[in-house]
Amino acid sequence: MKPIKVGLLGIGTVGSGTFNVLKRNQEEITRRAGRSIQITMVADLNTDRARELTNGECEVVSDGNLVVNNPDIDIVVELIGGYGVAKDLVLKAIANGKHVVTANKALLATHGNEIFKAAQQKGVMVAFEAAVAGGIPIIKALREGLTANRIQWIAGIINGTTNFILSEMRDKGLDFDVVLKEAQRLGYAEADPTFDIEGVDAAHKATIMAAIAFGIPVQFDKAHVEGITRLQATDIRYAEQLGYRIKLLGIARRTDGGIELRVHPTLIPAKRLIANVEGAMNAVLVQGDAVGATLYYGKGAGSEPTASAVIADLVDITRLATADPEHRVPHLAFQPDQMVDTPILPM
Ligand code: HSE
Repeated sequence: MKPIKVGLLGIGTVGSGTFNVLKRNQEEITRRAGRSIQITMVADLNTDRARELTNGECEVVSDGNLVVNNPDIDIVVELIGGYGVAKDLVLKAIANGKHVVTANKALLATHGNEIFKAAQQKGVMVAFEAAVAGGIPIIKALREGLTANRIQWIAGIINGTTNFILSEMRDKGLDFDVVLKEAQRLGYAEADPTFDIEGVDAAHKATIMAAIAFGIPVQFDKAHVEGITRLQATDIRYAEQLGYRIKLLGIARRTDGGIELRVHPTLIPAKRLIANVEGAMNAVLVQGDAVGATLYYGKGAGSEPTASAVIADLVDITRLATADPEHRVPHLAFQPDQMVDTPILPM
């Protein structure tokens, strides 16, 4: 069977990880997907670096339009980030009948309804495992592993930068600013760290999880968002003395009146598993009515952990796109025409 052809939009940290892991684990991935997955084209403003990272093995261009308009490309992987160019190219790719994989939580949390509607109308898939909690397969868990459940709530440490900052402040008694710089140096923080420290990044991810778990449209504008900038070393110390840890949690909870969607620092008893998630790690607790509580833990950022999620989506789409259309199961991500109109509660 002929290979499925992939075009990358952006080859930074995650893009190069995707290229390397696909190559390194090519045999297993091909076996699992039933077809070889090949990155044949990359768009990046820094074409020299892109050529170097891909060892001259694929076509490199500076204009993403050349990827989304290329009739040979089956799947477009968007790793640009932000809402501007990324949104434009994703919508063009969909309009051209291409499936899309994206790690762009900001884009999906704010424009997801429009994007998923366009995809559904065109009959293409938009997959986004890498957008929430990096390498942890939480989207898959919510939409597949827990599919029998009525999800009651989700609570997660879904921003590695803030968890790293809170851990270092507690362990080493360091100041907020010092630890933030270290998080940026280690590559955890967003280009604009305001999104991390003000809770916006976590709220993007919580918004996406809530939509999947409760079958509601994405409604980032209704989320309550509070970051960690007002926390001081003394807060952390007092919490410790009382037997608690402070964690920035993203919470989505079903109540009788509607859905709570909120991000804020939370006191958690120190003996709880989630209170002991340290450094840049992520963890998500999901409570389902049948399964009870389940906990997912792993790296929420970084080159290969995030690439692991991108490639899982590529494999999923390859399998589904290759299946006989008569027997193809519906893609289980967002289906705008089947959403429930449950209100998000004002907090
Ligand atoms: N800035 C994000 C974090 C990166 O710290 O978790 C992964 O989304």
